[in-house]
Amino acid sequence: MSRKINKIVLGVTGSIAAYKAADIVRRFQENGCDVTVVMTKGAAEFITPLTLATLSGKNVYSDMFARGTDGQAWEMGHIELSKADAIVVAPATANIIGKMANGLADDFLTTLFIASRAPIFVAPSMNENMYKNAFVQANCQILKKHGVKFIEPVKGKLACGIVGVGHLADADDIVRAVLKD
Ligand SMILES: Cc1cc2nc3c(=O)[nH]c(=O)nc-3n(C[C@H](O)[C@H](O)[C@H](O)COP(=O)(O)O)c2cc1C
Repeated sequence: MSRKINKIVLGVTGSIAAYKAADIVRRFQENGCDVTVVMTKGAAEFITPLTLATLSGKNVYSDMFARGTDGQAWEMGHIELSKADAIVVAPATANIIGKMANGLADDFLTTLFIASRAPIFVAPSMNENMYKNAFVQANCQILKKHGVKFIEPVKGKLACGIVGVGHLADADDIVRAVLKD
């Protein structure tokens, strides 16, 4: 029997589809979930932390070395968030997939990933050539082998103008895949 998933960490990375994270936050909330957003620096080039903080009603995590609100204690946000019921990376860049597959921890999101035992879901979004690139595919296989679940990208019009595979899965499909687990 599947366990109840309520606390979601949504990792947002530097894809042109990052703006869709706003909709994904809303869809999780409509399904009764509590969502905390973690953004890479790249993601903040595409959608502001303010937007996602407002929608989620929470602080957005991005800076590994952020000071606590009292200006003294260092926040251990990655440890606190590691207790989430699920970590969902959507959209996931080729870069974050590569870092996750190789155990790197050079930003908040990748550090959280290796600190957590929560189920991990990855929804890639990228240009078709990037998605089919042998190294990217090898990294996807490593993650799958270790139990990371993929919400596969679909065929559609890509930001580069061509129609191909690499389009982020629909927000509803992402939410359904996570909550049915
Ligand atoms: C306009 C633009 C759109 C981009 N879209 C994507 C994308 O959809 N998928 C992807 O993997 N990388 C994309 N990139 C490249 C990433 O932003 C870049 O690899 C970055 O280092 C990712 O960092 P992050 O994974 O830490 O967010 C794009 C870059 C630019 C300038």
